[in-house]
Amino acid sequence: MPGQDVLVIGLGYVGLPLAIAAARSGFRVTGLDLNAEIVAGLMAGRSHVDDVTDAEIAEMLDHGFRATADEAVVEPQDVIVICVPTPLSEAAGPDLSAVRAATATAGRLLKAGTLVSLESTTYPGTTEEVLGPLLEKASGLTAGIDFWLAFSPERIDPGNPVYGFANTPKIVGGLTPSCTDAAEAFYAQVCEQVIRAKSAREAEMAKLLENTYRHVNIALVNEMAIFCRELDVDLWDAIRCAATKPFGFQPFYPGPGVGGHCIPIDPNYLSYKVRTLGYPFRFVELAQEINSRMPGYVTDRAAELLNRHAKAVNGAKVLLLGVTYKRDIADQRESPARPLARKLLARGAQVSYHDPYVPAWTIDGQSIPRAGDLHAALADADLVILLQAHQAYDPAQLTQAARLLLDTRGVVPAAPHVEAL
Ligand SMILES: NC(=O)c1ccc[n+]([C@@H]2O[C@H](COP(=O)([O-])OP(=O)(O)OC[C@H]3O[C@@H](n4cnc5c(N)ncnc54)[C@H](O)[C@@H]3O)[C@@H](O)[C@H]2O)c1
Repeated sequence: MPGQDVLVIGLGYVGLPLAIAAARSGFRVTGLDLNAEIVAGLMAGRSHVDDVTDAEIAEMLDHGFRATADEAVVEPQDVIVICVPTPLSEAAGPDLSAVRAATATAGRLLKAGTLVSLESTTYPGTTEEVLGPLLEKASGLTAGIDFWLAFSPERIDPGNPVYGFANTPKIVGGLTPSCTDAAEAFYAQVCEQVIRAKSAREAEMAKLLENTYRHVNIALVNEMAIFCRELDVDLWDAIRCAATKPFGFQPFYPGPGVGGHCIPIDPNYLSYKVRTLGYPFRFVELAQEINSRMPGYVTDRAAELLNRHAKAVNGAKVLLLGVTYKRDIADQRESPARPLARKLLARGAQVSYHDPYVPAWTIDGQSIPRAGDLHAALADADLVILLQAHQAYDPAQLTQAARLLLDTRGVVPAAPHVEAL
């Protein structure tokens, strides 16, 4: 096993930590990515991913890691792991074009005994129905007999200081039990615990279940946040109390909407698959509807708050704090800050932002002014909206310096000029 060749296709948030772990475990790792800039950066020792340091890239290069954008220089491999994006198509359905392209590459680099593992999140059946036939056609070999094919969902949680690639249990599910054996043998070398699924389909579903569970529970508290305010109930306090129950309850918190590459996107893959059966996946569709309305709700709350202080949104200076999709990371994908800013701009607000992780921010081609000095920006704004509670934001300082503050994260102490979502 260690000493074998491993090819990681797609060197992003998912592929890069895997490449590091495999290189550390003694595999000869090659990384293939279409993005020549990413490849050049990695070869120069630069990380482009939160949670991965330049030192880890240097260590991986010392272990013999090489990145390339040119498939032609790659030899047939013992293990090929596909970690490419699975976005939504224009019709909000699955867009498997990157997975298909990466699978075609894998097919050309297959040999007898190769393990191909898909880590990209996708709907149940993809590994068997999409990858299997493509790989067999490209290689002339048979899955489950000549080579091994499995799905192993990535569960990386960017910014999590406790759980990283190595200590998060890794699920593997193969097309056949022998495929699962091969995947289990590989992943056991790179992470601490491997969980066997019954087949690739259950492994695919496990990932979607995890993300749908988060999506639905976040929607539940978002909907509750809206009516709790009208009922004069402090939902944040109710959640704090409920979370003391040592069993049967896990706290989720309201916010300005869901972001990132997983929660707003992955459940669509599942609802697409369910719709092929002729009926909708109602929980997901409802969660989608509630969560995607939150930026609009926050805009309305901002307008109401300004109005109560005799100000119109039109012309008001509104400062957004934290425009990434999650606290303490730089990833902006699907961040709810974007639709929120769009709505505020449409109502005539003068929007600026502050975010230690985002050096420049544009909305529909319009560059949004970045506040350099946080303290001065807080004092200058008619309204401050806290969107991400980055560690750089001291709640006491926010209360003190802001004239009017809408806290969408429930972290700022109560004050007459502070309102929680
Ligand atoms: N980011 C996360 O936190 C996370 C967590 C769990 C699962 N996932 C899933 O993992 C998959 C990858 O996500 P990511 O966040 O790593 O994406 P990413 O955009 O960070 O990285 C993907 C990389 O793949 C490259 N690529 C695209 N097509 C390619 C091809 N045909 N050949 C070679 N390289 C190609 C891109 O250039 C990019 O660098 C997605 O399905 C995502 O849903 C992501």
